[in-house]
Amino acid sequence: MLKVNHLSKSYKTGSRTYPVLKDISLEVNRGEFVAVMGPSGSGKTTLLNCVSCFVPRDQGEILLAGQDISKANEKEMSKIRNQRIGFVFQDFMLLDGLSVFENICLPQIIAGKPIAQMEAKAGNICASFGIDSIKNKYPAEISGGEKQRTAVARALMNQPFIIMADEPTGNLDSKSCRAVIEAFVQAKKEMGATVLMVTHDSFAASFCDRVIMLKDGMVYNELRRDGSRREFMDRLLYTIGRLGGDCDDDE
Ligand SMILES: Nc1ncnc2c1ncn2[C@@H]1O[C@H](COP(=O)(O)OP(=O)(O)OP(=O)(O)O)[C@@H](O)[C@H]1O
Ligand SMILES: [Mg+2]
Repeated sequence: MLKVNHLSKSYKTGSRTYPVLKDISLEVNRGEFVAVMGPSGSGKTTLLNCVSCFVPRDQGEILLAGQDISKANEKEMSKIRNQRIGFVFQDFMLLDGLSVFENICLPQIIAGKPIAQMEAKAGNICASFGIDSIKNKYPAEISGGEKQRTAVARALMNQPFIIMADEPTGNLDSKSCRAVIEAFVQAKKEMGATVLMVTHDSFAASFCDRVIMLKDGMVYNELRRDGSRREFMDRLLYTIGRLGGDCDDDE
């Protein structure tokens, strides 16, 4: 579904150039839930920003469902971001003046979809994600976990090829964290969603099918879950320990 080939990115400050991503290649298959972990500063956010073309890359190819989106112009790219990629951010990014239901409808309003179809779809998503009872509330009136589940529901509205999430549980307590991760797992199981999530939290990552570890802008290794979640989490913790850094400040 997503294929990144030889992606490189550096930032220039004054006359100096700092390489941040160094020849990264990775793949996320259809229906897969993949996490990216790595110490602070290893390039995780930059990776998501380059893959979604928010930040220009130096080199590399980004194939989304076979299309090289790194070649898209600005207009094509905003359509791809609206219809083909769903985003979930650490600080939710809900619009305060809109209700939960209206926030969830937003991607389809932007895409110009018919209202009846949009409302039916949003209603179904609210029901299956357990946010039916709060759908008429405003973001200021709901908890962090509810905000993030609203953001996950919104990301699913246009049935994107992939959902990209940067630290979606970073601002949540462990109970809300679990509810949000379960929303991703449910989206994967029931809607076949493909998810690429950056996280510091090995508990959150242990629900994934696969974890890509970054170190100093390179892929350090990849771990695939093949046993229980608990066993996977132990392996993640062990690898993070070897990797060094502050990768797991929540544990
Ligand atoms: N706009 C920018 N200009 C210059 N340097 C930047 C910019 N954005 C990020 N960097 C640098 O690139 C490196 C990687 O940053 P990035 O935000 O991708 O790390 P991260 O892995 O997401 O870290 P964290 O876990 O703290 O969120 C860091 O050294 C950072 O200082
Ligand atoms: Mg980051």
